[in-house]
Amino acid sequence: MCGIVGYIGRREAAPLLLNGLKRLEYRGYDSAGIAVLNGDMQVFKRKGSVGNLEEMLNVSGTVMLGATAGIAHTRWATHGDPSDRNAHPHMNVTGDIALIHNGIVENYSTLKQDLISQGYVFNSDTDSEVLVHLIDRIWKSDPSLELEAAVRQALRHVEGAYGICVVSSREPDKIVVARKGSPLVIGIGNNEFFIASDAAPIVEHTNKVVYLSDGEMAVITRDNYTVKTIENVEQEKRVTELDFSLEKIEKGGYEHFMLKEIFEQPEVMRDVMRGRVRIDEGRVQLGGIEDYLDRLKQAKRVVICACGTSWHAGLIGEYLIEEFARIPVEVDYASEFRYRNPIVSSDDVVIVISQSGETADTLAALRLAKEKGAMVMGICNVVGSTIARETLCGMYTHAGPEVGVASTKAFTAQVIVLFMLAMALSKGRTISHDEIRLNLRELAEVPDKVSRILEQNDAIKVIANEFKDAKNALYLGRGFNFPVALEGALKLKEISYIHAEGYPAAEMKHGPIALIDEDMPVFFIATRDNTYTKILSNIEEVRSRKGRVIAIASEGDREVSRLAEHVIYIPQASGPVMPLLTVVPFQLLAYHIATLRGCNVDRPRNLAKSVTVE
Ligand code: AGP
Ligand code: GLU
Repeated sequence: MCGIVGYIGRREAAPLLLNGLKRLEYRGYDSAGIAVLNGDMQVFKRKGSVGNLEEMLNVSGTVMLGATAGIAHTRWATHGDPSDRNAHPHMNVTGDIALIHNGIVENYSTLKQDLISQGYVFNSDTDSEVLVHLIDRIWKSDPSLELEAAVRQALRHVEGAYGICVVSSREPDKIVVARKGSPLVIGIGNNEFFIASDAAPIVEHTNKVVYLSDGEMAVITRDNYTVKTIENVEQEKRVTELDFSLEKIEKGGYEHFMLKEIFEQPEVMRDVMRGRVRIDEGRVQLGGIEDYLDRLKQAKRVVICACGTSWHAGLIGEYLIEEFARIPVEVDYASEFRYRNPIVSSDDVVIVISQSGETADTLAALRLAKEKGAMVMGICNVVGSTIARETLCGMYTHAGPEVGVASTKAFTAQVIVLFMLAMALSKGRTISHDEIRLNLRELAEVPDKVSRILEQNDAIKVIANEFKDAKNALYLGRGFNFPVALEGALKLKEISYIHAEGYPAAEMKHGPIALIDEDMPVFFIATRDNTYTKILSNIEEVRSRKGRVIAIASEGDREVSRLAEHVIYIPQASGPVMPLLTVVPFQLLAYHIATLRGCNVDRPRNLAKSVTVE
């Protein structure tokens, strides 16, 4: 999610807020806005960069001088395309409350309908706007309340994740903040206070900070701050001293964005599922395709088009949809699909997958599929991106901005979206209500299992050090893990520049086995599933030719450790969710090998984050 900055003190707020937003630009965003208070309140917001907003303020020349309190936001859209009207802050109808929000309001649709039925008029397509009208409704019903009490009562109706700042011209000498699932930190200056979604905008002003915990609120004035729980229980908070540089803060304390994004995956996975996975009801709620689900279920065939890592996610999607929904699927490189005069008709559903939503080949494949009459659905990470806008329907991955060129969290987010899609396509057709509940429970357990794998980071770094000078590498997997072998090889080659190939393990004997010698590291996925014994045979074949075997195995497996030089154990899980686990060690291995080789992990040579050219 995106960026929040707040200030209250004795200095001009606007320049401090804008500069704070610039410190958050690294997080990626699509629009920005600001609200300042000096008795009255002024709000400015627009699509595009913080520079755009600054220009708007300079041109308008009307930013209240002497405004020494305010809030500001950079938006990473989840609900509602990037636009001026969808940018934050959002205001109530009387224009005396302004709110900025990081996160996702899961039950915004219900809340919005309720507010509209009571006469509220919405000015945006976002989920966030419901929050400011909820506060307004409570405050109007009891004007004797203080702002914080109205905010507290409003938040009791809210499901989902939020980090919010609220200001009002009715109580202009305070900022009310609240946190549940989206971080907020308070900076303590000399007779001034800062709020931000991370310490980057704060560290140049003060190194004394207080981190809010989930379920906490704070009221901040020029002289003081108080922290309470949402249940109105006073909290004593420890003041900590920041001890790392701005650069480190931007990477969340990690050395590189890629490592930060690998470690973000458990939380991102929860965000992807948030409001969508309904285990008890045995169903998924996929707003972006709800109106088209019947048509999707009637597809004679699904064609998935994508590039690179997104293509690997598509391959997993093929296995998932065929396994559960029993709809034939084929997966095409978008760059091949667009030129091979494919046979596509209105009986087909074409799914395009793209993190950036701007990849030229994928966009061309989308347009060709539409020309041929297919129904086109998108799976993108960037709201309002070209591909997202040109598909008939789709689902956003909600992975947040992915800064590292090598895709990690966006990949696992894509796989989760494809898993949920497979469940939706299967419901009422090919698998029972209980089976869907079982599968969703398996999926819901994945983030904690990924956290356990991430705890092995140091051990994986030791293994990486043994292979940092390899000239070649092979990645082998079967079934659901075959695409993960491809993804592991891509990760290694694109950031360490070591040549690597991924193969279905059984394909070894059809040629690649000629490559095996004592200099060839072979990374196996050997988890306990229906092809386990076959994989053990493949490992034997490599060992007998002196190949060096590194295996990902299921916790407790002793058979593999007898055969492999190194074993990375991961928690047991069912085959269909296994890719979400097995890819993580490969992400970490590639990351550590590349850093040990001194490669630019976040900006690998020759690569772009989004390939918008052919
Ligand atoms: C993945 O690590 C690469 N950066 C690259 O293969 C990428 O997946 C591919 O260019 C597709 O990008 P997209 O998902 O934004 O369309
Ligand atoms: N869900 C909100 C929106 O789409 C906030 C997104 C964010 O965290 O930037 O506007």
